[in-house]
Amino acid sequence: MIEAGKIKAFGSYADLEATYGAIPITAYPHQLITPGLIDTHIHFPQTEMIASYGEQLLTWLNTYTFPTETQFADFDYSAKVADLFLAELIRNGTTTALVFATVHPQSVDAFFTAAQRRNLRMITGKVLMDRHAPENLRDTPEQSYGESKALIEKWHGCDRLRYAITPRFAATSSPEQLKVAAQLLAEFPDVHLQTHIAENLDEVAWVRSLFPEAASYLDVYDRAGLVGPRSLFAHGIHLSAAEFARLSTTEAAIAFCPTSNLFLGSGLFKIEVAKNPDQPVKVGLGTDVGAGTSFSLLQTGNEAYKVAQLRQQKLSGLQTLFLATLGGARALNLEEYIGNFEPGKEADLIVLDRRATPLMAFRNPVENPTSLEQLADQVFALMILGDDRAIAATYILGELAHQRDALPGF
Ligand code: GUN
Ligand code: ZN
Repeated sequence: MIEAGKIKAFGSYADLEATYGAIPITAYPHQLITPGLIDTHIHFPQTEMIASYGEQLLTWLNTYTFPTETQFADFDYSAKVADLFLAELIRNGTTTALVFATVHPQSVDAFFTAAQRRNLRMITGKVLMDRHAPENLRDTPEQSYGESKALIEKWHGCDRLRYAITPRFAATSSPEQLKVAAQLLAEFPDVHLQTHIAENLDEVAWVRSLFPEAASYLDVYDRAGLVGPRSLFAHGIHLSAAEFARLSTTEAAIAFCPTSNLFLGSGLFKIEVAKNPDQPVKVGLGTDVGAGTSFSLLQTGNEAYKVAQLRQQKLSGLQTLFLATLGGARALNLEEYIGNFEPGKEADLIVLDRRATPLMAFRNPVENPTSLEQLADQVFALMILGDDRAIAATYILGELAHQRDALPGF
């Protein structure tokens, strides 16, 4: 039961009626309703360069990413891409994301304006980058402080929007700029921090040479004061056991981005190390578009399963659904607001069609699973076979925001 955009109560109609009297119903027979999906790592300015051929991380950045990002100096261009990007997220059932903008404050203004118009709970921030990038994509430590602070004061906590301090990664920030990021994090105790870590072996070697005093990649951020419960690190493919342990102790989070990690040939994330019950690290799923190859967190789950398989590990459909909902909410420290249907949480939800295509209907012949095993099996097949076609509807704060067209063959 939804009231004023929030979950008022959760249960069978008969039970709720006994307490609340007659309640208007929207029925989705034979469908699965889950919380809106949460993407813990994605770049909105990279939408147009998804599927760029032939390179691994560092050359991919120089060849495709940096030239694309220079266009976001223009507010109107940023606004156009932000709108298209958010429409694509909603079509894929994603209702919250932690998003990279570009170094230009205009890109952040445009993104927040578009997200606010759609009533979305979104997090983004201006990229901090003061070296090893083209001149028109660099800022200075002073600029990064002033511009980030102004954006935080303008947008953080405005409706459902939140700010993330966003140093791109250790290689493109001077030690002074990392210190500025830490200063902002201390000054604004409620904002987030996002960056990249240990994605690619050449990147790891480069960072080691740039910060010879640091014991590890994570230690570069740790020494600067950037590792804590509000920090989220994308990738973490090449982290050591000691770095995973430090992430656990500090309650920092990782975004697992399997389609990106396979596309850029970066490597296989060690999900079982991250989820070691003795030292668990908060993990969410990230599409990492434009290095990632799909906006769909179902397809991201499909690739997460295969990454686990290549490491002789298992990741069930229900575990993956957890990573894409409550797990993601915890990774972003947003579980107070979103992630499941506890009364009081915001009513962002999706209607999942386990039988969205003729093949999926053939694979999932039972309309109403009668056991947890059957449900788990269907959710797994939905994750492996599903994509935007399986998102029958998306609701934001209880309001219908997307309804899939009728599909051919049905
Ligand atoms: N590392 C630094 N910048 C980026 C980026 O834009 N994408 C990915 N995948 N890794 C990065
Ligand atoms: Zn990224």
